[in-house]
Amino acid sequence: MNWLKKQKCGSVPVKQVPAHIGIIMDGNGRWAKKRGLPRSAGHSAGAETFKKIVRYCSKIGVKHLTVYAFSTENWKRPAAEVTFLMGLFEQYLNDALKDFEQRNIRVVFLGDKSAFSPNLQRLIADIEQASQSKTGMVLNVAMNYGGRSEIIRAAKAIASDVKDGKFSVDAIDEKVFANKLYTAGQPDPDLIIRPSGEKRLSNFLLWQSAYTEFVFMNVLWPDFSEKDLDLAIAEYAARNRRFGGV
Ligand code: IPE
Ligand code: IPE
Ligand code: MG
Repeated sequence: MNWLKKQKCGSVPVKQVPAHIGIIMDGNGRWAKKRGLPRSAGHSAGAETFKKIVRYCSKIGVKHLTVYAFSTENWKRPAAEVTFLMGLFEQYLNDALKDFEQRNIRVVFLGDKSAFSPNLQRLIADIEQASQSKTGMVLNVAMNYGGRSEIIRAAKAIASDVKDGKFSVDAIDEKVFANKLYTAGQPDPDLIIRPSGEKRLSNFLLWQSAYTEFVFMNVLWPDFSEKDLDLAIAEYAARNRRFGGV
């Protein structure tokens, strides 16, 4: 990894760039606490990092980027924090819309949107609609997303199709199942990065990460830089992926 440290940002060789990167944007609260600030300040700082890293991924040629913004379990947090986060999503999605449009980014939301306010649901629908025809990077924003609930939702959809006679039980295979997930039609993530020092998936992309490479980093999300992404990609590029083969 030493060679990379000497290089400038954006110098990742194109052939090393994973087609699909997932990021668990974690550590906002601890970042704020370290500074004696409220957790909300950490979320605001994290939202800026989100914008910066989306731009960078699109610039270096990542084809799919999936960011974990809010889990199905995050509703457990104090009401004031949840309300703040929802407000931040509205603000950032509004703000990001034009920027993403200019960069030819297609935005897709993964998760159960029905739990959001009518305003946020409208915003999400507008963004998905407006960016539908974009041909650049696909940005998946996982919001009110949980891997387990995604799998149950897919199982229910398949059960209902079988009941309606659309296909037989025997026809259910991995491809059929994957096509019922929020990520239908997209490749599995090659690399999942989790900053903040935690070493767990926290219900992120359970099905899709069967053969994903993981890079856990000690940096807190608001401090995460382009250079950290370069480092994660360099570590990924040095791995030997076998997919069960030899
Ligand atoms: C990630 O940061 C943001 C969300 C989960 C919405 P955290 O808020 O989990 O930050 P820590 O883990 O408490 O530091
Ligand atoms: C995972 O982080 C969810 C997001 C980053 C959106 P959490 O902070 O919720 O995960 P745990 O509680 O540490 O496992
Ligand atoms: Mg956390």
